[in-house]
Amino acid sequence: MTRVYSGVQPSANQVHIGNYLGAMRKFVELSKKHETTVCIVDLHALTSVSNKQDLEEFSISLAAAYLAIGLDPSQAVIFRQSDVPEVCELTWYLTCNFPLGLLERAHAFKDARAKSGKVNAGIMYYPILMAADILLNKAELVPVGADQKQHLEMTREIAIKFNHLYGEIFPVPEPLIDENTGVIPGLDGRKMSKSYDNFIGLFETEKKLKKKVMKIVTDSKGVEDKKEAESCNVFKLYKFFANKEQIKEMKDNYAGGGFGYGDAKLELLRAIKEEIDPIRDSYNKWISKPDDIRDILASGAKKNREVSKQTIAEVRDAIGVGKIL
Ligand code: TYM
Repeated sequence: MTRVYSGVQPSANQVHIGNYLGAMRKFVELSKKHETTVCIVDLHALTSVSNKQDLEEFSISLAAAYLAIGLDPSQAVIFRQSDVPEVCELTWYLTCNFPLGLLERAHAFKDARAKSGKVNAGIMYYPILMAADILLNKAELVPVGADQKQHLEMTREIAIKFNHLYGEIFPVPEPLIDENTGVIPGLDGRKMSKSYDNFIGLFETEKKLKKKVMKIVTDSKGVEDKKEAESCNVFKLYKFFANKEQIKEMKDNYAGGGFGYGDAKLELLRAIKEEIDPIRDSYNKWISKPDDIRDILASGAKKNREVSKQTIAEVRDAIGVGKIL
């Protein structure tokens, strides 16, 4: 059994289909075969969420999403990051061994700075908290989208350095990034992201879902024109929801002419609904039982704390700080 660990930020009132297809769907698959822990990384979300009610609401929504997509708390540990304070302690130990230049070169940090000029220090230190998150759990495999590749490289680098300095404590984790679903495009063709506001929420109402699908950016070819499927944002998304025959049929329709982007969008809408409707129903059931969700998170945190306390004890001993009395 491989130790699998991953997390999603509770930074909006719902996750989007990029999170789902790029990462979360994998968690479910892996949890059936491996020792799997998934986290609601609310400490990471603090870099962008500064309202108590929002943080609570987003965290419960994310937990409901985990449950709705099929994560079973008897098979996977589901917990909230802030319930396990050991992660903050490990963050400091890693910080003291983390080259500052590496943080300054991080894409996410550079992008955030270029966008707003003013960034909080949490955004800069985000990769160390993420490394601590992964290493505290002694994770071996970390399923993520392609945008997390650099963060995983940093995690591996610090694990190797730490082991070299203090002895073999951490497994060096492997990222699991799917070639096909590593980057899910958004409505405008750029990577789907909350910060680009080009996302389709996993639990949009039917009306909103339709509105968003209809907004997908295409070129200006008319209904009668022959079209190129592979470069079209509608087709790119369709491929994630349709089967082989449906994909071929859509491609032929594009190539044949007489098939407009409006038609393609309606077919995409149908395919999304077919996959997402049952998940949305389950999400709506879970979200109406927040106390049950809190119980699941409490029990997950209890299990995770056992692992985390053990790792921290080993690290404290290795680096020469005091024992917890
Ligand atoms: P977050 O919440 O930004 O993203 C959660 C997961 O969704 C993936 N993702 C995508 N995949 C494909 N296409 C997209 N358009 C897309 N958008 C998002 C992300 O790659 C991610 O896997 N830093 C992490 C959270 C984290 C974490 C961890 C992950 C904190 N600690 C430890 C793994 C292990 C993040 O990006 O969250």
